[in-house]
Amino acid sequence: MVRSPPFRRLRMTTLATLYPQHLAELHRRTEQALARAGFDHLVIPSGTSHYQVFDDRDYPYAVNPQFKAWLPLTRAPGSWLVATPGQKPKLVFLQPFDYWHVVPAAPSGYWAEHFDIVVIRKPEEALQHLPANAARCAILGEPQSALGAFVPNNPAPVVNYLEYHRAYKTPYEIAMMREATRRGVRAHRAAERAFRAGASEFGIHLVYCQAAGQDANDLPYNNIIALNEHGAVLHYTDRDLTPPSALRSFLIDAGAAHHGYACDITRSYALDAGSEFQAMIDAVDAAQLKMCDQVRAGSDYKQIHVDAHLALAGILKDFGVIKVSPEAALATGVSSAFFPHGIGHGIGLQVHDVAGFAASDNGGTIAKPDGHPYLRLTRVLEPGMVVTIEPGIYFIDMLLDEVKANGHADSIDWARVEAFKPYGGIRIEDDVACTDGAPANLTREGFDAAA
Ligand code: GLY
Ligand code: MN
Ligand code: MN
Repeated sequence: MVRSPPFRRLRMTTLATLYPQHLAELHRRTEQALARAGFDHLVIPSGTSHYQVFDDRDYPYAVNPQFKAWLPLTRAPGSWLVATPGQKPKLVFLQPFDYWHVVPAAPSGYWAEHFDIVVIRKPEEALQHLPANAARCAILGEPQSALGAFVPNNPAPVVNYLEYHRAYKTPYEIAMMREATRRGVRAHRAAERAFRAGASEFGIHLVYCQAAGQDANDLPYNNIIALNEHGAVLHYTDRDLTPPSALRSFLIDAGAAHHGYACDITRSYALDAGSEFQAMIDAVDAAQLKMCDQVRAGSDYKQIHVDAHLALAGILKDFGVIKVSPEAALATGVSSAFFPHGIGHGIGLQVHDVAGFAASDNGGTIAKPDGHPYLRLTRVLEPGMVVTIEPGIYFIDMLLDEVKANGHADSIDWARVEAFKPYGGIRIEDDVACTDGAPANLTREGFDAAA
């Protein structure tokens, strides 16, 4: 169904309506963070472009996440944001005279009226508009953003406080992530069609970017577009230019961005709907939905991870791949050979959002469970958090060899492994918001709306 423009207008109105509350929350957090560290101002450079080594070409510009938390600008290098408790935030906006490049458009949109905006034409002019005393400023950024006395100092109490609280998304941020999801879902559906039509990995990637309306540099992470055995490479970012001679399966882990907010979505497909591999995908999908239902206030994310091992080992047992109980597979590390990554991570302004291990807004670390080094989030879930739930089952030679080396070869039916290996692996990944009640699965909602 083609969405008519009024739908889009409504969604933009929603963002405009939600934005002031988002900004008020950032002010509240900033006031706290500055008070803790004894600073008067929060100063955030948007970041600069950098040359590649021994070359005159820039790396792709990546905006400072601390900057894009405040306003939906992701292509404004050389700009600065100043937040001072009790005052309207100030945006020092670099709009250079430049006939070589497209310069950033003049600030406009639902956010602009909430800032005092000063347009500058040269990066160094920012100095005239930053606070008088740099020593009173918490300056959050990378070293290359230094300008005069404004050298990023990234005080730990300020960074810790802001990053810890960034896990709790405002309603505006959830709406931004829904927008990112709309794009991602549209592109995933196009990619599935391209897979079924026999396109190459590279061809599917191009179809994806076209449907998302985003280039590789705009996407929140490098697309994983894997056919057949390539699905067993967790971060498979090569892309074959030609289709395989025999097409069997497709694993796609690809996201999209909306003004700096990410979605992170994985789907797995078998070409043959009647195959055993499709049945295993369906089993993982059903288990994944149950895991998504665990995204509730008070749930320990570490427990969701451990429970996922048991559920996935149960599927492996049902399909005759392992011969031991799920509990035994977890205890011996056999389940980790098939599910060797974490169940997920926080997501928002960064696809792997910050402060996944933060014990408090004052610092401290919540350890990962023993034997699970790749888990990226160990916090207890609370309303406002958005996390991914991304269980997987893979057939990876290197890890299966380790099972043998560790003396657990008897736990596995190797003929069944050989039967599944040509399909690579399975991962299903949704982005799920924790609420006061039932979880909001942003990804499933997105696919339902698009269907
Ligand atoms: N796409 C990266 C991840 O799923 O974490
Ligand atoms: Mn992920
Ligand atoms: Mn992913």
